[in-house]
Amino acid sequence: MPKRINKPSKESWWRFTGEDEVFVARDPDRISRLYFPLCNEVGLLSSITPRLNGDIKTDQNHFLTLPVSAEDLHNTRSGRNFWIYIEGKEPWSAAGSSGTALLERYRSPRAETCRVEAGALWHRITRENRRLGLRVELTNFVPATDDWVEIMQVRLTNISRRPITITPTAAIPMFGRSADNLRDHRHVTSLLHRITRHTYGVLVTPTMSFDERGHKVNTTVYAVLGCEENGDAPVGSFPTVASFIGEGGTFDSPQAVFEDRDVPDLSETELQGREAVGALRFRRRKILPGKTASYSLLLGIAPDRKTAAGWLRTYGSPEKVDSALTDNKTYWKERLDCIQVRTGDKDFDRWLRWVRLQPLLRKIFGNSFLPDFDYGRGGRGWRDLWQDGLALLLLGENEPSPPAPLPTQGEGGRRPGEGVSALLLNNFAGVRMNGTNATIIGSAPGEFIADRNNISRTWMDHGVWPWITTEFYIHQTGDLDILLKEVPYFWDQDKAKSPLAEKGTVLEHLLVQHLAAYFNAGDHGNLRLEDADWNDGLDMAHDHGESVAFTAVFAGNLLRLAGALDQMVARRGVKEIPLAGEVEILLEQRGPTVELSPEARRKRLKTYHDRTREGVTGGKVIVTLRTLIEDLRTKGNVLAAQVRDREWLSAASGQAWFNGYYDNNSNRVEGVFDGDVRMTLTGQVFPIMSGVATDDQVRLAFLAAKRFLQDKKLGGFRLNTDFGDTPPPLGRAFAFAYGEKENGAFFSHMVVMFANALYQRGFVKEGFEVFSSLYRMCRQTDVAMIYPGVPEYFNGEGRGLYHYLTGSASWLMLTLVTQILGIRGVWGDLLLAPKLMPEQFGTNGQLEAEVGFAGKQLKITYVNRGKKPFGQYHIESVLLQGNSFALPADPTVQVVIPRTTLAALPDNTVHITVALS
Ligand code: G1P
Repeated sequence: MPKRINKPSKESWWRFTGEDEVFVARDPDRISRLYFPLCNEVGLLSSITPRLNGDIKTDQNHFLTLPVSAEDLHNTRSGRNFWIYIEGKEPWSAAGSSGTALLERYRSPRAETCRVEAGALWHRITRENRRLGLRVELTNFVPATDDWVEIMQVRLTNISRRPITITPTAAIPMFGRSADNLRDHRHVTSLLHRITRHTYGVLVTPTMSFDERGHKVNTTVYAVLGCEENGDAPVGSFPTVASFIGEGGTFDSPQAVFEDRDVPDLSETELQGREAVGALRFRRRKILPGKTASYSLLLGIAPDRKTAAGWLRTYGSPEKVDSALTDNKTYWKERLDCIQVRTGDKDFDRWLRWVRLQPLLRKIFGNSFLPDFDYGRGGRGWRDLWQDGLALLLLGENEPSPPAPLPTQGEGGRRPGEGVSALLLNNFAGVRMNGTNATIIGSAPGEFIADRNNISRTWMDHGVWPWITTEFYIHQTGDLDILLKEVPYFWDQDKAKSPLAEKGTVLEHLLVQHLAAYFNAGDHGNLRLEDADWNDGLDMAHDHGESVAFTAVFAGNLLRLAGALDQMVARRGVKEIPLAGEVEILLEQRGPTVELSPEARRKRLKTYHDRTREGVTGGKVIVTLRTLIEDLRTKGNVLAAQVRDREWLSAASGQAWFNGYYDNNSNRVEGVFDGDVRMTLTGQVFPIMSGVATDDQVRLAFLAAKRFLQDKKLGGFRLNTDFGDTPPPLGRAFAFAYGEKENGAFFSHMVVMFANALYQRGFVKEGFEVFSSLYRMCRQTDVAMIYPGVPEYFNGEGRGLYHYLTGSASWLMLTLVTQILGIRGVWGDLLLAPKLMPEQFGTNGQLEAEVGFAGKQLKITYVNRGKKPFGQYHIESVLLQGNSFALPADPTVQVVIPRTTLAALPDNTVHITVALS
């Protein structure tokens, strides 16, 4: 058995090649489940593998190629291919799927080599077969224009000493319909296909889109077009699967190629109502040694035939493809450049560019449409939308979805803060008067759907995210007034609604979310888990489940919301605000004594729900801010004390940590049971992050996490310990194999939030350890088996899964910029509070960062010549555009630069040098 057939070598199989994010991967086709995303902002969504597999679509209902999930990537039948019939030799697949080449590669790894080079956002495979004397270079990208087209440029080079005569055939199976039709009338829907043999390729225009709830006339055109380097059209096509693979044939040995058949004449009977394939036959030609033949292929989805044909004019030559590729690179580079970091670890800086891209990818793809994400129909969930908002705010990506019109290239770039308020206001319109919210956000602004698959569910954490994002927005921009803006509520279609009650302030929306949560108490005094919290997998404890973790977050939010209202009084002089009369039910009428008994709390919530179920009267009450602040503080403190004092566990072994949950039998989930430790990371992260845990509790919870959740070999922190065969009744997560997904995986989102929480609380060394553990897992390339970036999780083997579309990327960027680099807004002013460790500085003791803030591009340099760790340095001096900025008399580790000072600077780029010593 040859070595390395299943495993790449121990050394990294990919490496960065230059200053930016471009990397080269050696033999990536030996790694299963590997894929790379390609897209543009108008939403042509592709995935591509080292063997050209992956699919091309615009949404759930428009797939050009067969929809694939990760397990389909081993098959070649559905992917792009490019066949070469070589005179005197056997046919060769440029995708690496021809039988002989595979066998040869199996016997001798070097017989055929494959490498992938990729950057934002393009993918190039180079495959070389010395025996056959051919090298093929396949470059795929989606141009950064408003065309729904993927370009595939093929360059075939004769690397032998003799002329080679070839007959190429591009082969892209064309599915041309909704992903639903994969199992819903796959055959019947092929009968709808109307196939046109265009001079330059194959067009499929189904007569209708099939949906038994109401068929619709279809006008969308699915196209595979191509030309040679001189613009010549293909000699013809094999437009149906039957004509291409032949009777009894397969996509791995299509008879059209293997028997070197001429393009067929097909009758209408043979052509229509068939499974289609964009099999484009190019002319037979001789390539001299060292010479190259090129083919441009356009794979797309168009509103009409004219648009599809127009692509040939725009992209139909190697020069035009090159220029589109250059534009594409410039476009994404500009998006990535708005945050740049130069630490002591160049690889980290380059890896970070991929992480920075990920929130953008999630904005474009939603939570679906890459091979690991074999669920969902596009759109994003409520909590993801808000959390991604954090990163988009930070990264200057402020346009509401759907993707905004593309900016002209070179146009100064976007600035954080612009247009965000519109995005936030728009999202607030998804909040219901009862404190819950619509859960799915459609692609148009203001388009909400009550829930996926029409299952009515409540995720009890949903209420916390809008304030977390809004608070960050207020700090970054100083726009406290957003709290007083009026926005509609979401009313379910079937419920009556009062026209008078359609709107309320953002503050009122936030109050409704937090107060309703406060009163939704479980038997132990924590907030009810309902149908799950952040952990979607805790979905089976509706009756008696409680989430201590999110009780802590609600506590922290209530207290910080009170803090923002303090600012409102102090900075804006606002003394009172109007609220919907019904909201008064949730406020304390008799001073700051609050109901503590869960029964009394639930009863009050019921009264409120009964009064708002059918709408509200429209009557307003005026509430003084002071009273409101006191109310929120009291409730926040009640919840905080509940978590801090009643959910803190001490094990006999001396360890101590927070209990995070109660199960559906109303039993405590965490602790030591029959000698087995049950602990969740979530249960620790949120009491720490919210500020509810005392410093001592933070220290001990971290130690317990190290002891019970940190994997000794891989270094990462797991989401929970193994609860064994009889886990507490909480949800589906515990039906997953241990180590996968929400059951004990190294779940990046929670790990990075753990780091964030520790940094926020000033536990810098600990935060750095957690943050680094995640980075290291991403960089253990031979274990993680993914391209650069952060995946949703690593399984028990350390393999990265669900790459690219994960909220952890947003939190990673947020943690890096606002906590580690300590660059963030405080009520609109700029705070610099670096929390750095020696290894993060370069050899010269410098670390540089570029971020947007207050309409300026900040170039911040931290200089720490003695490379002291956080705790041992203070800020010695600050230079602002070369001038020294006055520091407080006492030694300090943070400095605030007023927004007005920044705004008064004439230049757009602001240089700040901070000396630490
Ligand atoms: C995913 C979901 C997120 C959820 C988490 C845990 O995480 O998108 O909403 O909270 O699983 O169930 P992500 O893929 O964003 O890392």
